[in-house]
Amino acid sequence: MLDIKIERTAAPKEKPADETKLGFGHIFTDHMFIMNYDTGMGWHDARIVPYGEISLSPAAMCLHYGQEIFEGLKAYRTADGSIQLFRPDENFKRMNVSAERMVIPKLNEQDCLDGLLALLNIEKDWVPHTEGASLYIRPFIISTDPYVGVRPADHYMFMIILSPSGAYYSTGLNPVKIYVEDKYVRAVRGGTGFAKTAANYAISLAGQDEAHKQDYEQVLWLDGVERKYVEEVGSMNIFFVIDGEVITPALTGSVLSGITRKSAIEVCRDKGYKVTERRISIEEVAQAYDSGKLDEVFGTGTAAVISPVGHLKWGDKIMEINDNKIGPVSQMLYDTMTGIQWGKIEDKYGWIFPVK
Ligand code: COI
Repeated sequence: MLDIKIERTAAPKEKPADETKLGFGHIFTDHMFIMNYDTGMGWHDARIVPYGEISLSPAAMCLHYGQEIFEGLKAYRTADGSIQLFRPDENFKRMNVSAERMVIPKLNEQDCLDGLLALLNIEKDWVPHTEGASLYIRPFIISTDPYVGVRPADHYMFMIILSPSGAYYSTGLNPVKIYVEDKYVRAVRGGTGFAKTAANYAISLAGQDEAHKQDYEQVLWLDGVERKYVEEVGSMNIFFVIDGEVITPALTGSVLSGITRKSAIEVCRDKGYKVTERRISIEEVAQAYDSGKLDEVFGTGTAAVISPVGHLKWGDKIMEINDNKIGPVSQMLYDTMTGIQWGKIEDKYGWIFPVK
């Protein structure tokens, strides 16, 4: 069992009065979890301290070369007031996959979970009570050596911060508008696309900015080599329902291995849908649209949950999907996933982790 030192805040903050107006990722709780790594010592000094600013050298390596990884998961409050997590073991497993790619020392996954549970135990009153709101959990690791040369660091900080949040997209469950990016690329095979690391998000900003200027919420990325095959949205994985078949891009190394993606595939198969993970070109999507066979498009992600796509723009081509309404597969997945997460329906998959 991880030995965690606890220092409680003397000045707890007011909790948000209106949980329907939380937005996403603006508000932070009273405490945070920290652990340090030093070469020769390993990970040590697990502690929970009041939430606040951290001191870093301006030369800290993460600030210059982006040696950073992160995760995202949520704590949900059920109708009887208890708190639960959704597949947290998968997040810490994936964090170690990202760590390996970014040459960051791996963590003991059980220690990460113990740290999170200890933090949640102190912050349980911050888990929202309102439908659709949850406590977003952001574990992350940064390299801290004060050094401006390029090499893997010798010193790191692992932290967990918590943010009571509502929907990631301001549109909520209403369909989002997505712009197919054909100028910039997000990732290439052999790069870092599968890792949850800051660089993948920094690189996406120019495309996102362009999309916003044209009144689109997000960018759909194509493969970085041929700029032909659909990859992901950046904040979510993408699914197409074509002629009744559920299709999602295969995990080829440049796409994030989403936990919601993996769960959605399992739920769809369980409900009798044919699900295929394969390469799918944007041209195939457009052809399916033209022949009236593009039934639905939706994204999956921890923050995004299940987000129907109502509008897809590829060059001059505008595809309005399912009359810009949520379709039956997206609705079924939304109901099943959120039903399990909020404890409204039976978790027959064993995905729920109760927080005692
Ligand atoms: C998540 O879904 O948790 C993510 O990390 C995506 C991020 C863009 C909010």
